[in-house]
Amino acid sequence: MLSPKLYEDSHKYDLFMRVFGFEASVERFLKRCKIPAIQDGQILDNGCGSGTIGIHFLEASNNSTLLSTDLEPNFLDAAQKKAQRRGIVEGTMQVGIANISNPEQVTTLDQSELKLSPNTFQLICLGAVLGYAENPESSLRTLVHLLQPGGYLLNLEMSETMLGRYVSQRYHYKNISLDEMEEILKGEGCSVEQRTMGWSQFPACMTRTSLIARKKNT
Ligand SMILES: C[S@@+](CC[C@H](N)C(=O)[O-])C[C@H]1O[C@@H](n2cnc3c(N)ncnc32)[C@H](O)[C@@H]1O
Repeated sequence: MLSPKLYEDSHKYDLFMRVFGFEASVERFLKRCKIPAIQDGQILDNGCGSGTIGIHFLEASNNSTLLSTDLEPNFLDAAQKKAQRRGIVEGTMQVGIANISNPEQVTTLDQSELKLSPNTFQLICLGAVLGYAENPESSLRTLVHLLQPGGYLLNLEMSETMLGRYVSQRYHYKNISLDEMEEILKGEGCSVEQRTMGWSQFPACMTRTSLIARKKNT
């Protein structure tokens, strides 16, 4: 079964995700999730792991850039290697260290501090990371502030099924219900849709579910 030790080696984690088809099934879902291709915009991927979600949307975008953040520098290295393998044009993807408890505060790999500004991103992605925040509600509100009006937030969250909860527990991840997130996001003026994964997105559908929010145009 899954071992939390997978987190200790980002390259092993990445290999595991690829060999067992998890990455491909996530990408099948992302292709169908109807988030429009980003044009001349900025994408933020929080808790990016080995980078799959943000890189997928960067590849689908036009003339856009991606900032991928994670608490663990070894995951940023794995994300950069994936970007290289997939031929991402140099300069379009930047990585930085950020804690999801304070997602607007980023430290770049050359140790510069970057404070992200409100209304910056056309797309913000999260994947099984919000449950690591000290205060998930506050992190979610901060992320909405970082979104441009009309921008999208995608959360590929751990599911609340028995298996989803079991894996979360193994990874010391605090499950948060999509209903709770939906309420917070609606309170921040977003339209929200919850979307479960189907069997065509196996094996990701075993442990993940999703929520897509759109910040209203003001
Ligand atoms: C389950 S992995 C998800 C990776 C990727 N987002 C995905 O959906 O496949 C969780 C990631 O969150 C990162 N992480 C753990 N605690 C964090 C925190 N407090 N702030 C930011 N990232 C964190 C881990 O290093 C890991 O890369």
